[in-house]
Amino acid sequence: MLYDKYSVQTIRVDTPSARYDVFAGTGLLANLAPRIERIAGRLPRRIFVITSPEIWGVWGETLLSSFAEPPVTLFLPPGEKHKTMASVEKLLRQMVAAGGDRGSLLIAFGGGIVGDVGGFTAATFMRGIPYVQAPTTFLAQVDSSVGGKTGVNLPEGKNLVGSFHHPIAVFADIGVLGTLPERELRAGLMESIKAGIIRDRSLVRFMEEHVEDILRRDGRALEKVIAASIKMKADVVNRDERESGLRMILNFGHTLGHAIEQVTRYKALLHGEAVGWGMVAALHVASRRRTISGSQAERLENLIYAYGPLPPLKLRPAKLVAATGADKKNVGGVRRFVLPVGIGDAGVVEDVTAAELEAAASYMLAQAAENPR
Ligand SMILES: NC(=O)c1ccc[n+]([C@@H]2O[C@H](COP(=O)([O-])OP(=O)(O)OC[C@H]3O[C@@H](n4cnc5c(N)ncnc54)[C@H](O)[C@@H]3O)[C@@H](O)[C@H]2O)c1
Ligand SMILES: [Zn+2]
Repeated sequence: MLYDKYSVQTIRVDTPSARYDVFAGTGLLANLAPRIERIAGRLPRRIFVITSPEIWGVWGETLLSSFAEPPVTLFLPPGEKHKTMASVEKLLRQMVAAGGDRGSLLIAFGGGIVGDVGGFTAATFMRGIPYVQAPTTFLAQVDSSVGGKTGVNLPEGKNLVGSFHHPIAVFADIGVLGTLPERELRAGLMESIKAGIIRDRSLVRFMEEHVEDILRRDGRALEKVIAASIKMKADVVNRDERESGLRMILNFGHTLGHAIEQVTRYKALLHGEAVGWGMVAALHVASRRRTISGSQAERLENLIYAYGPLPPLKLRPAKLVAATGADKKNVGGVRRFVLPVGIGDAGVVEDVTAAELEAAASYMLAQAAENPR
């Protein structure tokens, strides 16, 4: 990975319930202790790191390098099947056994799963202790570590248990992305494309013009995309922390994306890949409704494929549409759907019909059959 210089961008989250900074750049992980000390006033006596064995194996030493006294490391095995209440209970008990108290601090060091489980553990231990997010996947850096949503899955569905609990800071160190599998990077980039489409026209342009730089993980290019994506999310969360209105636009591409994940039982695609296909379908609805032009839809669809390949899909459109009925974003039976308005703006509509969704799903599945794209 290439870095010209040590560089960090700071983005402020400021909501009715929390105010903290998200740092994105290089050299953050190796300086975690002094950075936390500066924010917390002093380093708490007991610090816990929740991470997965794989991530710790590669990056643990770097994290430890700035701590005079090593934190207590607790492990969560990788995979969505460990994002459970049982894992949280196990972690909570380990924290008690290791002398954790209300003055302890937790560091969630990993991808979105570690972030969601770690955040929820911090939210519930002794009714809530402060924590820090140190996200290590592209998706976690641009999306899941920002905004205060934490939680776990139930056998009945994903993310059905949780709480809003904001970290005291987020440290998105771009250097750790050097070991991220290529497929994870490409999938995470779909959330940045989403960010650009709904709220940042210049990010769309930058991603169009720097596909190669971004995919070869050029430090400057990644920093730009990550910082812009975080800014977009922070700005939306600052205006609508609890998703009563504006925050809903973050679900662009997610109605059919979630349906694809559900129908394929979360096994065939990464979340970002499902969102990539979901955006292709949503762009179809938007261009049919003329909230974007045909050529804008084509341009954005090509941007999605530029960061592919998205895995091929073989599904029935009607099955996908049926799966959107179970979307938990639907309040009181209203089907909320996010539509881009031009490039860089979006709105939420409530009158998208099953027929429109089916036409969009058919179009998307036709593209998905030709693939990988
Ligand atoms: N809280 C929110 O607002 C929010 C938003 C979006 C997604 N999420 C959640 O995030 C989760 C998905 O997160 P994810 O995409 O980061 O997946 P993940 O946490 O499963 O991480 C993906 C894989 O990459 C590995 N990995 C992580 N960092 C690495 C690195 N630097 N080098 C090498 N390997 C590394 C992990 O061990 C794992 O196997 C889902 O559970 C989703 O529900 C939450
Ligand atoms: Zn998403």
